[in-house]
Amino acid sequence: MARRHSFDPDTVTDRRVVIVAGKGGVGKSTVAAGLALHAAHRGKRVLVVDVAADGNSSQMLGGRRAISFQPHQLTGDIAVLSLLRVEALEEYLNVYFHMPRLARLTPFGKVIEFVATSVPGPKDILVLGKIYYEESRVDEDGAPYWDCIIVDGMATGHAIAQLKAPFAMQSLVHGGMIYSQVERMAGLFSDASRTTAVVVATPEEMPIQEARQFKEAVHEFPIAVAGYVMNKVIPDADGERDKVLRTCMETPALVTALANALEWNPEDLNATVSLYDAMARTQDEFVELARNELGGPSWTLPLLGTRGGGRTARAIARMLAQRVGARGEVPRS
Ligand SMILES: Nc1ncnc2c1ncn2[C@@H]1O[C@H](COP(=O)(O)OP(=O)(O)OP(=O)(O)O)[C@@H](O)[C@H]1O
Ligand SMILES: [Mg+2]
Repeated sequence: MARRHSFDPDTVTDRRVVIVAGKGGVGKSTVAAGLALHAAHRGKRVLVVDVAADGNSSQMLGGRRAISFQPHQLTGDIAVLSLLRVEALEEYLNVYFHMPRLARLTPFGKVIEFVATSVPGPKDILVLGKIYYEESRVDEDGAPYWDCIIVDGMATGHAIAQLKAPFAMQSLVHGGMIYSQVERMAGLFSDASRTTAVVVATPEEMPIQEARQFKEAVHEFPIAVAGYVMNKVIPDADGERDKVLRTCMETPALVTALANALEWNPEDLNATVSLYDAMARTQDEFVELARNELGGPSWTLPLLGTRGGGRTARAIARMLAQRVGARGEVPRS
């Protein structure tokens, strides 16, 4: 089947900021780590920003769990940082208000902290503020410090709130230092040549609905969407391999032989194959739903048999490099 959209991993990783969003557990960190490895293979200096507390993508890239809000160089090309909100707030106050930590204990510091942690806009803006700050960093030659910043860990609802923040704040704040910061941030995130989002879903109802929610919400910001990744698709569900498997399962002597070889009882084997078959069929319905709701997944990734997030992320990076994974060309794993 022809690709409905082209999802070009090189174009995506040529952007300064790539936001990976989607429902919990769909594979955001795996895709983010895969994109980071791909960008690094292309010679880019990459920063992975983990906005969730768990440090998922940094672990997949070989880092420790507790990465701090200061960039930590994992390899020659890839650095990671984790943005827990409180730490982001400290840095924000420090960078923008030149307020050392001790000053935050003063009444003025407390007021700023209260505003920044209790009003929706400023709180959400901290994460984007830090990303904006890292994007504008330059090295001693004046060149951008990071070629590509990949943002991992934005669950859909949260992503919408965070991405809206600078645009919402523009209408709340008029003039002054905060306004000009917010304006520059909105400029970065709404510029399709610098910022793009990759939305990950799996062939299930809720992940697709969340991806649709995101698609609708981005019109308000606006933030460009490079594509929708349909992850964990059972590969080759209608292909020869599955026909062979089904034919085998309809031959009682083969079922017995296979069950003996696996030391399973034949009913368990039958149940497992039926479950796999049902999953493969339902997923096709959901891929169809995604096609209707999202204009089609731009890129389809197979459910891999690899163990451990690091190996899965590396396999995905290889697929990005080889441009495989579109519907109809799912690699056999
Ligand atoms: N294509 C795939 N094939 C097999 N396993 C996968 C695939 N993609 C992701 N996984 C596995 O699924 C699990 C969830 O993936 P991941 O942590 O990337 O999701 P997430 O969206 O970042 O989750 P969270 O919302 O909790 O941060 C991990 O164990 C990961 O290794
Ligand atoms: Mg994650």
